[in-house]
Amino acid sequence: MQVVVLASGTGSNFRAICEAVNQGELALEIQALITDKKNIGALQIAEEFGIQTIVLEYQAYRSRDLYNGALEKTLAELKPDLICLAGYMRIVNREIIQKYKGKIINIHPSLLPKFPGLHAIEQAVAAEEIQTGVTTHYVDEGMDTGPIIQQVSFPIADLSLEEIYTKLKPYEHKLYIDTLKEIIEE
Ligand code: GRF
Repeated sequence: MQVVVLASGTGSNFRAICEAVNQGELALEIQALITDKKNIGALQIAEEFGIQTIVLEYQAYRSRDLYNGALEKTLAELKPDLICLAGYMRIVNREIIQKYKGKIINIHPSLLPKFPGLHAIEQAVAAEEIQTGVTTHYVDEGMDTGPIIQQVSFPIADLSLEEIYTKLKPYEHKLYIDTLKEIIEE
């Protein structure tokens, strides 16, 4: 299975995927990392693992349509079997979603359908939840609304935001790998 990863930031989920592939835990090939920003952690990780990087710097495009057109063209050239969003902070446009229906997955730091969108952890804390979690899901036209693939929950009562962020990360990394294993086995 040929996989393209899209990221906009630190890339800890991307790193977890790269490590699992390197350890032979995931039978897939990461074709490329595509980012919408330069100078981000995810790019350094790709370099470390010898993965091709493609930077489509959002600010360099005169419009959202031009950016999305460049992304669509890049994906068309790569022809991935699966597109993994790993901290990709842009909405994937309708054309790409329709073209790759059932082939784009995302990880979100809440128990969807609770707390979609930005600041999911802050939303959970503000709602005084005693547990939160992580969800992997297929991407559809909505904001974190696509069919859920897997979820994991953990208690957060009495934890600070910082403590929750720290606790969340290993759950995310394991869940992304478990989800990829499930998809590979399908
Ligand atoms: C994660 O919290 C993920 O759930 C969300 O974006 C964040 C990316 O983190 N979609 P990282 O860059 O993989 O560390």
